[in-house]
Amino acid sequence: MRVRPRPGVEALRAYRLGVVEAPVKLNQNECPYDLPPDLKEEVLAALRAAPWNRYPPMRADRCREAVASSCGVPPDHVLVTNGSNEAILALFQTFATGGVVVLPEPGYSMAPALAVAAGARPHGVPLRSDLTVDAQALAQAAQEHRAVVFVASPNNPTGRAADPETLESLLQRAPGLVVVDEAYWGFSPWSPLALLHRYPHLAVLRTASKAFGLAGARVGWIVAHPEVVDAVGRVLPPYNVNLFAQATVEAAARRPELVAQRVREVVAERERLAAGLRSLGVQVFPSDANFLLIRVRDAQETFARLLERGVLVRDVSRFPLLAGCLRVTVGTPAENDAFLEALRAAQEVAV
Ligand SMILES: Cc1ncc(COP(=O)(O)O)c(C=O)c1O
Repeated sequence: MRVRPRPGVEALRAYRLGVVEAPVKLNQNECPYDLPPDLKEEVLAALRAAPWNRYPPMRADRCREAVASSCGVPPDHVLVTNGSNEAILALFQTFATGGVVVLPEPGYSMAPALAVAAGARPHGVPLRSDLTVDAQALAQAAQEHRAVVFVASPNNPTGRAADPETLESLLQRAPGLVVVDEAYWGFSPWSPLALLHRYPHLAVLRTASKAFGLAGARVGWIVAHPEVVDAVGRVLPPYNVNLFAQATVEAAARRPELVAQRVREVVAERERLAAGLRSLGVQVFPSDANFLLIRVRDAQETFARLLERGVLVRDVSRFPLLAGCLRVTVGTPAENDAFLEALRAAQEVAV
């Protein structure tokens, strides 16, 4: 017998990247620096001492305490997940199944797919033409559909953080849960965590994949009112975060000075890269993240020419409002120079 997925899933396209490897890989908004060897040794020592035949702590207690302290909140405000994608799915399953999730477009591409996976209907609301979040339109759609709202801030692929007034006006008018995905925390001048104590229907998401430089560990976390945390904890499978991931993120969270120093380096490189791009005549959008959105003459052609020169970026030119746009992760200084040089050469060919 042939089985078919339910209709929403049948219409979904699986997440695919196309090209995945290149000498200069600037396509996935990863941190360009690996964990320092001494920290890796520390994690490996903890892992050697731990029993691998036993289940890990069910709710990643020590890891949860460490990330809670990095966010300045008590541990009962935090739930650790297997990447922040699992957090998004669990929040939608807890609060949106059978209903609607309202989200800005263009936005984080996995969010609508995760809404469908949770049995909810995604409802896109366009960003304004300057690529900022339209709080009024989002709140209106949320009220109309009695919906959960999902906003990535800083947004991916545009790079901009919503300003505090925009998020507050959304929180004041939203009829239910507002999820603010702060995957790019650290790179932005302000954090929505500052709003948590006033809005118990706010859930902030963070990940270890960007500022901590631990995309390989697959760890994210929800920061929210304990009642939200408790509700999601009923949906999330037990032991969702494995022993290795817990140990790695716990170690990184206990080294805030290392994380802060790398974030500073990436932000400084982001500004240097933006200046270099502008001097090549490229339009660069403002960024509060570890990547830049740029507009070039012909995105598909430029993408291909960069790849010929060993530089892989993300072609986002088919997203609404983003005709001609590429998304470029901030790399090491050498990678950024290689990208600038490849782009300069690609533009010369195009002339
Ligand atoms: C806005 C946003 N949220 C979530 C994620 C995924 O995070 P994780 O690696 O924790 O699943 C990404 C990854 O690029 C992202 O851009």
